[in-house]
Amino acid sequence: MKNDEIALALEAFKNDKLVAIPTETVYGLAAPLNQPKLIKKIFELKERPFFDPLIVHGSNLEQLKPLVKEWTPLCDHLASIFWPGPLTMVMNKTELVDDMITAGLDTVGIRIPNSELTISFLEQLGIPVAAPSANMFKKVSPTKAADVSQVFNEKDVFVLDGGESQVGIESTIIKLTKKSIQILRPGMISKAQLKESLTDFDCTIVDYAGENIVAPGQLKEHYRPEKEVITIFADTIDEANEILQKNTISEACFIDLDDNPTLVARSLYKSLREASQGSHQAIAVCLPKDTQNDDSWSGILDRLIKASAKVLTKD
Ligand code: TXA
Ligand code: MG
Repeated sequence: MKNDEIALALEAFKNDKLVAIPTETVYGLAAPLNQPKLIKKIFELKERPFFDPLIVHGSNLEQLKPLVKEWTPLCDHLASIFWPGPLTMVMNKTELVDDMITAGLDTVGIRIPNSELTISFLEQLGIPVAAPSANMFKKVSPTKAADVSQVFNEKDVFVLDGGESQVGIESTIIKLTKKSIQILRPGMISKAQLKESLTDFDCTIVDYAGENIVAPGQLKEHYRPEKEVITIFADTIDEANEILQKNTISEACFIDLDDNPTLVARSLYKSLREASQGSHQAIAVCLPKDTQNDDSWSGILDRLIKASAKVLTKD
């Protein structure tokens, strides 16, 4: 069964189709590194601008190492702790990576996703794939096969069904230099976890604070569902309602959030999709105020704020 699906996916590439791959974060829309025509098709189907670089996914280190210039002991260390998993490392690229993938940058983002099906697929393909999230540009990322089939036609995209994504939001992206790690996009691998992994290395962690968009996940408007999302920082539902009323929003559908960030991330996009089907004026998401200072929530807050038309607090 699994091998039949993989055979069909391999066949799809030969027929100029893209393959949607399951990963633990979100589904990706993949094309092999050696098929530039298909890589171009990713941008076309997603309506994604060519200035927005793609992440390269491999099944093992042997597939990925030749794509980057300096694979250091720090890279080995991070890979051994976090891969397969939701961490993307951005490093100087070699000529094996086409400029279309990196949008002309000298660097490439690479990761090994934690999905058995995708890893087997990539092993049989024998070459890494470039894959952004399998959604239209700026829309909510897919966390199950049906989310992808709803948007893309089967004549263009073969969907490998690996069940629901367990992490639920996109990978943490870090840029590696000799003595520092810069977080370009927060995710469920937190700054604290990265820091803890670096105790034996002379390496500091810096948050991204620049003005230029080096990861378009940093575009302000991103991950937007069909309906207006309002994020409210409040400690009780009464306080949240009061804030809504003050802002003359009368009809909002509240998304109930767990207090465990792992569970919240897992269901976030699914909840946003479901809530945007309803008849309410807006979707309201209420979070306790202290989540703003809690590193384990930073990936979730990043996505929510980018999905939101308004972010409200009491004062
Ligand atoms: O979890 C994920 O990362 C998912 C799954 C499919 O792996 N992929 C994903 O891809 O989120 P995408 O294309 O939706 O977001 C990738 C982000 C973009 O914002 C892009 O700008 C950034 O990665 N990126 C890729 N290469 C980069 C580079 N060389 N330098 C800086 N940012 C880069
Ligand atoms: Mg995306």
